[in-house]
Amino acid sequence: MDGMLAQKKILLIIGGGIAAYKSLDLIRRLRERGCSVTPVLTKAATEFVTPLSVSALAGAKVYTYLFDLTDEAEMGHIQLSRSADLIVVAPATADLMAKMAQGRADDLASTLLLATDTPVLVAPSMNVRMWDHPATQRNLAVLRGDGVGVVGPNEGDMACGEYGPGRMAEPLEIVTAVEAQFRAGPLAGRHVLVTSGPTHEPIDPVRYIANRSSGAQGTALAEALLALGARVSFVTGPALVPPPMGAEVIRVETALQMQQAVEAALPADAAVFAAAVADWRVENSSVEKIKKDAKGAAPALRFAENPDILAAVAQRAEGRPRLVVGFAAETETVVAHATAKRLRKGCDWIVANDVSPATGIMGGAENAVTVIDADGAETWPRMSKADVARKLADRIAKALA
Ligand code: C5P
Repeated sequence: MDGMLAQKKILLIIGGGIAAYKSLDLIRRLRERGCSVTPVLTKAATEFVTPLSVSALAGAKVYTYLFDLTDEAEMGHIQLSRSADLIVVAPATADLMAKMAQGRADDLASTLLLATDTPVLVAPSMNVRMWDHPATQRNLAVLRGDGVGVVGPNEGDMACGEYGPGRMAEPLEIVTAVEAQFRAGPLAGRHVLVTSGPTHEPIDPVRYIANRSSGAQGTALAEALLALGARVSFVTGPALVPPPMGAEVIRVETALQMQQAVEAALPADAAVFAAAVADWRVENSSVEKIKKDAKGAAPALRFAENPDILAAVAQRAEGRPRLVVGFAAETETVVAHATAKRLRKGCDWIVANDVSPATGIMGGAENAVTVIDADGAETWPRMSKADVARKLADRIAKALA
């Protein structure tokens, strides 16, 4: 096999959650691609899948929570973790994530994770409330800060009967994330944050204010960055186009949520703000659906200005990405407005485009941009959004080289 994963050694830590059954399929998928998989089961995991089935699928010895003296003599836990090219934790339960964030080592799995200098990828899986709990979100932020890769969780029906984020990523999504860890290219080892799509600002539970951004340019850019080997955190509003495979996708609705997600995804080597963030939110949005007034009076909406996410990151005193790129969608005197915007926001580059309806750019397949940096303006010919993305990703790779 000559794929990206051929000959790669994966240490797979299976945590104790209902999603552990999906890890059996993950083992198959990884082996199909030429990986060798060494499985480790936590004590709780053995309640969900048997060491026998895991061992049969992996074609390898399974290490469980029990310390085996012969194993310690043959292969100490330090060596076990270090001889892998990548450690995958799937499912990563709330408890395992908490242990990892704290650096605890009270069983084989957590000891391996603490003893290693090998890259780690986690696939969280838990009840939606546990995922949303501030403690888990805090642990997640700590793990991200430690350089741990995260894939999922997805939103959907859960085994516990609830609905929301918490479902473990599907085996093929985890495989894509594993491949991303081994990607080579000028941006390998770099972390790039991309915002994309529109934001939705609620008026009431059923109505919202939005804009016509499709998320196409941001998605194309994330794909181009991934193709150059970058690790990409993709913070997206409700977009029309599906998010890029292989990125760490963080879905949000409002500008305030986008700001939080961006803060949580930092630090990054570069940050590209392609999202069309609503400038205002409805300050007096209603928790109940607004009813028509009997006298025909229209509701009086009060607006509050949303935080400028790009400007806040670009003007950070500490932890500013080395390269901060903004977009400017204008309908007139594009270059002059965008040049002023670059200085006002404090970003390094502005990618300006004319979104007048006549251009068909907003929501369309093509884009015509001018890239403005400290040295001036560079106008590119009209081309597909994918080509704009590739040219921009190349320029970013050169700037970070
Ligand atoms: O000021 P304007 O909305 O034209 O600026 C566009 C740039 O600023 C884009 O890069 C957009 O992603 C970013 N932006 C932001 N937060 C806002 C408004 C815009 O990050 N609240």
